[in-house]
Amino acid sequence: MAFSHKHLIDIRDYSADDIALLLDTAERFRAINERRIKKVPVLKGYTVVNMFNEPSTRTRSSFEIAEKRLSCDTLNFGGSSTSTVKGESLDDTVETLCAYKIDMIVVRDKHAGVPRKVADKSGVSVIDAGDGKHQHPTQALLDLFTIREHLGRIDGLKVGIVGDVSHSRVCGSLVPALKTMGAHVTLVAPPTLLPPAPLALGADAVTSNLDEVLPELDVVYMLRIQQERLEGAPFPSLREYSMLFGLNERRDKLLRPEAIVCHPGPINRGVELDAFMADHPTRSVILDQVYAGVLVRMAALYLLLGGDESIS
Ligand code: NCD
Repeated sequence: MAFSHKHLIDIRDYSADDIALLLDTAERFRAINERRIKKVPVLKGYTVVNMFNEPSTRTRSSFEIAEKRLSCDTLNFGGSSTSTVKGESLDDTVETLCAYKIDMIVVRDKHAGVPRKVADKSGVSVIDAGDGKHQHPTQALLDLFTIREHLGRIDGLKVGIVGDVSHSRVCGSLVPALKTMGAHVTLVAPPTLLPPAPLALGADAVTSNLDEVLPELDVVYMLRIQQERLEGAPFPSLREYSMLFGLNERRDKLLRPEAIVCHPGPINRGVELDAFMADHPTRSVILDQVYAGVLVRMAALYLLLGGDESIS
């Protein structure tokens, strides 16, 4: 099937077929990542700029690894080492980068909407690697990939997304992606960490009672408390938050035997998850999510850049 997209900026632009093709392509890249020489020449000669203007561990490192394994040339750019600290505008920065005849820009920024602006200005392919509270589409894809890998499907699953919904770009992409693929989504959060119209995100239900929903769920997706984005005091203390909304050994007993626990990372240990749940040998799939990050990012780079060579 042909892939018709130039950008991956808003997961809501992607159909179920588009998402399925991305996940299937990611699966095809698994074999390459499991052999001794983890590199294929399919994107040789393409140049990708990683423009990260906000801290990142997993997203940044997995994009870099994905690009290297596809043989792209890459330029890591952004943050305090660039001329933006001298006052250069985003438009001027993007024009400068484009003068090098690049093929793609991967953008992480603390402001919502920057990836779209970069796409309009540059004319090259853009992947949103997380913008403000808005979107994080490759995170949603790696989450879907991991869920499908563990539970065999996405359609019909019951997924609870727990925590800081109002500040979460992960939620902004994950809810529509899960809905497109046929899952049932419940948001679980204190009212102070919900946006004014939480169901507008596309979820099926909203509750503040975690213990009540846990027994029904196939997937418990814990969101990080976005301490860098909290305004006011949405909950009295982290201790109280973790008592009401954290996963721990007591709550583990409420879960179905086959239920899995996801977290996008970085974890606030002791807040969203205690060590028992974060490191749980069967329930926690957090490191599988990290690995899936390389596979889905390889798939996104490959499909968006129109890689036409055979993968193997
Ligand atoms: C997320 C992010 O930065 O949006 N992390 C990630 O990309 N793995 C989630 C978060 O920081 O809470």
